[in-house]
Amino acid sequence: MSPTYRIAPSILSADFARLGEEVRHVIAAGADWIHFDVMDNHYVPNLTFGPMVCQALKPHARTPDGQPVPIDVHLMVQPVDELATAFAKAGADYISFHPDASAHLHRSIQNIKAHGCKAGLTFNPAMPLDVLDWVIEDIDLILLMSVNPGFGGQSFIDSTLRKIETARKRIEASGKDIRLEVDGGIKGSNIRAVADAGADTFVAGSAIFGKPDYKAVIDQMRAALAA
Ligand code: DX5
Ligand code: ZN
Repeated sequence: MSPTYRIAPSILSADFARLGEEVRHVIAAGADWIHFDVMDNHYVPNLTFGPMVCQALKPHARTPDGQPVPIDVHLMVQPVDELATAFAKAGADYISFHPDASAHLHRSIQNIKAHGCKAGLTFNPAMPLDVLDWVIEDIDLILLMSVNPGFGGQSFIDSTLRKIETARKRIEASGKDIRLEVDGGIKGSNIRAVADAGADTFVAGSAIFGKPDYKAVIDQMRAALAA
């Protein structure tokens, strides 16, 4: 059975002066999820937006015929729990965090779920997947970084392909319904290789928002996935 692929444009590369319009525009162009990159100038060397911006964008995260589009919050923050709670209250659907940013990983996962969101774990390019041994049954999403977090527009790190394969095997062994999302340097030219390695959900920031025609880029990505 072929997986249900999801394309999750990262608004990190959108025009911050027109965020609501950008979210509506990219959804009309075919986005499945909205990827929301939260940076704190502490865990990563950059600063973006917080829960109030998420709350303001929530009404815009709908298809033209009114269906809700999931908001996929990627927390690059330390500590994790207080902001995770705030994002849950601000309308996040998925909340992912970096295990190395939480002192109590299992507690952080339970906190996200207790607030009604799906929980994800995010792994930096050189970070092993070992913690999955103990928490894979508790999570809904694995987010593999294919660049070092902090900035859009970086190049895809090829060793991620091996890590995707490993993560896919872990998901299969768990028997759980867990999304495998990859983040950083994804474009129409490499999305097929990322899918072939086992990913089902694809973050793309600069590849989409850096182009004038969002629909053309997303259509090209879907064509590559269908080929
Ligand atoms: C990087 C962010 C990514 C970023 C991806 O820290 O987590 O989501 O926006 O941007 P591109 O697709 O430009 O690599
Ligand atoms: Zn991200």
